[in-house]
Amino acid sequence: MMKTELHATSPFERIPAEIFPSSEEGARWVAKEIADLIRKRSDEGLPAVLGLATGSTPVPVYRELVRMHREEGLSFRRVITFNLDEYYPLPRGHRESYWRFMNEQFFAHIDIEAENINIPDGEVTRENVVAHCREYEAAIEAAGGIDLQLLGIGRTGHIGFNEPGSGPKSLTRLVTLDAMTRHDAARDFLGEDNVPRYSITMGVGTILRARRILLLAWGRNKADVVAGALEKEPSEHLPASYLQSHGDTVFVLDESAASALTRVTQPWLVDFVDWTPERVRGAVIGLCQKVGKPVLKLVDKDYNENGLADLLTVKGSAYTLNIEIFNILQHTITGWPGGKPDADDSKRPERAQPPRKRVLILTAEPQEDILGMGGTVHRLIDQGHDVTIAYATSGDLAVPDHEALAALELGQGLGLAVGEGGNGGFAGRIVEIRDKTGFETEDSPAIREVKGVLREGEARQAMRVLGVGEERLRFLRLPFYTKGRYRRFVMGEEDVAQVRALLEEIQPHQVFLSGSEDDPSSVAGMTHSIFRRAFRQCIESSEWPADTYVWTYRGSGAEWPVDRIDMAVPLSPGELNRKIIAAFQHRSQHSQSPLAVIEQSEYWQRTEQINRRTADLYNALGMAEYEAIECFVRANSQET
Ligand code: F6R
Repeated sequence: MMKTELHATSPFERIPAEIFPSSEEGARWVAKEIADLIRKRSDEGLPAVLGLATGSTPVPVYRELVRMHREEGLSFRRVITFNLDEYYPLPRGHRESYWRFMNEQFFAHIDIEAENINIPDGEVTRENVVAHCREYEAAIEAAGGIDLQLLGIGRTGHIGFNEPGSGPKSLTRLVTLDAMTRHDAARDFLGEDNVPRYSITMGVGTILRARRILLLAWGRNKADVVAGALEKEPSEHLPASYLQSHGDTVFVLDESAASALTRVTQPWLVDFVDWTPERVRGAVIGLCQKVGKPVLKLVDKDYNENGLADLLTVKGSAYTLNIEIFNILQHTITGWPGGKPDADDSKRPERAQPPRKRVLILTAEPQEDILGMGGTVHRLIDQGHDVTIAYATSGDLAVPDHEALAALELGQGLGLAVGEGGNGGFAGRIVEIRDKTGFETEDSPAIREVKGVLREGEARQAMRVLGVGEERLRFLRLPFYTKGRYRRFVMGEEDVAQVRALLEEIQPHQVFLSGSEDDPSSVAGMTHSIFRRAFRQCIESSEWPADTYVWTYRGSGAEWPVDRIDMAVPLSPGELNRKIIAAFQHRSQHSQSPLAVIEQSEYWQRTEQINRRTADLYNALGMAEYEAIECFVRANSQET
């Protein structure tokens, strides 16, 4: 993974931003500021008034505060809290209610007084909503206003649930959730239809009244919206951009969430830079995309007129520079992702030796492997490598009830049809799912097992389409997932030990891994961190990792930016089709949402678009025209 040497400040940013190497470090910084505030206020004999957020982003901050409470005696007895929002309508006891979230993540573990906790009420009757919102505003005022407000940011640019269109003066009120927000919450509610349509949220105006604001964001998913909020004119299209008018706001980011800022993407516009090979490549490819030309057609004028005069002086002329970058790009393309035996490999992404490699593909959830590298998996096997595919989790949390019900009914029918007598527990589980009241109850271990079996079955079927035998598949069922919930996973030593044991057993020449820049609290982000720890332990204790190349792929969502790609594996039309059919086998993951159908964003449609788009981008840069491309970034062992 390429590390960014960040310039300390940037004239392009209209709000100060603190950027940390990891979300844990960012969260510790935030927790310390909160603790200092609480202690200072308490020394003055005053309560500290905190504005709090839910979602995955603040979870590591709450964990650190709980630790400080337990280990350092930090007391919350005099702290008053106001939460940003709550889904509406939603009972407090619902497992996705923010009321429950705050209790489970934070309040139950500290010494806060119950009467000092304020959360908008998802149970208030419709006719009382307006009065409730007014009372909420009045309560904030009566507490003396908010000293420190924590915020996350949604992909729509929302803060609280102030979706695009919310005005800068808006107050606490009932709002309709944006389609994208409901789409993003579909995973938590197991289907978009189950996501409440409304929420009660503090307004942008309410938030702006806080004396100090910290907006936190982790992971690549947030990078574009963070850059927009920090660098673009404030507008109602991106409500977080209104924070520009607040005198004391800081954005707290990890490097992935900061990765679309100008100081990262074009640091030469911010200050003098060292023209490292990665930076030169990024600059030239960015220029091609900006002026709409392939690499070999760039001329001096293009460089000079687009902020790259310095690069041109360093390199001498557009001609030499263009050829240098053209060759680098050309050398990323290979049909031999495991290396080409008996070929000169000095300019190839992978080594020729050994001709038959031990390859470990670690995938966070079934399906990520196919989406990110289905074509490459097929190639690796076809080219004789010894491939093992390990699924870190079963992915059962993402299976909607109706899928599990259908599977059980089928199982029951088959059980009866083959005359096994009885129903092997099918009937009981069918009743259990049918009787579930909304989402108030967690799935029992038996139902989670059914869902896990279902997804692992889909993974087997998908791999069969690619010609991959079952003997190559490993289902790890790491404990962080089996014991956890979305947005609240905690990595443990057992997870690391299990992955380490697998690594030691296989001693792979190549590892393919996803999740490197994802939200660290996501399943992919967690799996990546677990791998890193396990691999580091292997490096310390064994010789073989010195010989291992780690390739990172992106399992879902956006592909790697072209200027970062170290290996591009082209797919023929036939290979792309096979990949789509394989991806389609993950039937329980078909969203069946009207929005997804209209926008052609079912995951298997998206993966096709993404792979074709990469091929188009390569083509536009002047490379050969391929049907589709899968791509990988190489992580060196220090950075994995
Ligand atoms: C939560 C809230 C939302 C979230 C945002 C990001 O109280 O108001 O604005 O902060 O949707 O959610 P996560 O942190 O889950 O990515």
